[in-house]
Amino acid sequence: MPTTSPNDEPIHSPTKSVGLTVCSHTGVSVRPALPSGAASIANVHIRSWQWAYAGLMPASYLDNLAPSLERRTQRWLDRLSAPASNNPTVTLVPELDNEVVAFASLDPPRDKIFTTAEMELTSLYLHLHAAGQGIGRALMDVIKNEIRHLGMHHATLWVLDTNERARRFYEREGWRVTKDVKVETVGTMDLREANTKGTENLSTEEARCEAGAAPASRRISS
Ligand SMILES: CC(C)(COP(=O)(O)OP(=O)(O)OC[C@H]1O[C@@H](n2cnc3c(N)ncnc32)[C@H](O)[C@@H]1OP(=O)(O)O)[C@@H](O)C(=O)NCCC(=O)NCCS
Repeated sequence: MPTTSPNDEPIHSPTKSVGLTVCSHTGVSVRPALPSGAASIANVHIRSWQWAYAGLMPASYLDNLAPSLERRTQRWLDRLSAPASNNPTVTLVPELDNEVVAFASLDPPRDKIFTTAEMELTSLYLHLHAAGQGIGRALMDVIKNEIRHLGMHHATLWVLDTNERARRFYEREGWRVTKDVKVETVGTMDLREANTKGTENLSTEEARCEAGAAPASRRISS
């Protein structure tokens, strides 16, 4: 879930990945994350929590995320290096001068209230200096296309109910808040999360992104 702590998130193995995809309305290319990007992804995850949740979570908790970088990097490395299997998980990054400034991940839903016919957007995190440039939208477009390619038309995510910036973003992207709420314990905090669920728009917007000429793994060196 997007509110999953950089310390606590379960990480699945990847099996399905998109090639290089260009979102024409933003000009941002998106590609599958590579193992060499594990440390950058872990760093973005931590940094993104620190700016997004400032004022929403205790500063002491956010400050103490930094030491988890090494452990987080290893977990992302494990995920991104794992051989393909039938587990349809995806991790995407924008293609910006080989610097990883954001990432998104898609996994089978972790909560039993959701069906196996939908996917969960488990992460969508931008570094502060990447915000406001269409990168979130580009990642979201490719995520939606991936869900369609998996033969699904529904997806879900959890967003912290006080994360108003992200909630507005999801609303603009067509996600709708449902009545489902859960309280997640992160460290010593009880975080109230509102479940926001994607609906019919997943079946109608594919034209916003175009597949690139070659798989990203053959074009990107890091
Ligand atoms: C939510 C997020 C993915 C949106 O991506 P994006 O590409 O920045 O999307 P947008 O350009 O539409 O900007 C979203 C909002 O952030 C604001 N924003 C842009 N740059 C900003 C900055 N440097 N500092 C603070 N807010 C900024 C925009 O003004 C917009 O606000 P609005 O809703 O009032 O219009 C991104 O802001 C992000 O990663 N946030 C931190 C992590 C997070 O909350 N992830 C979701 C977890 S559920």
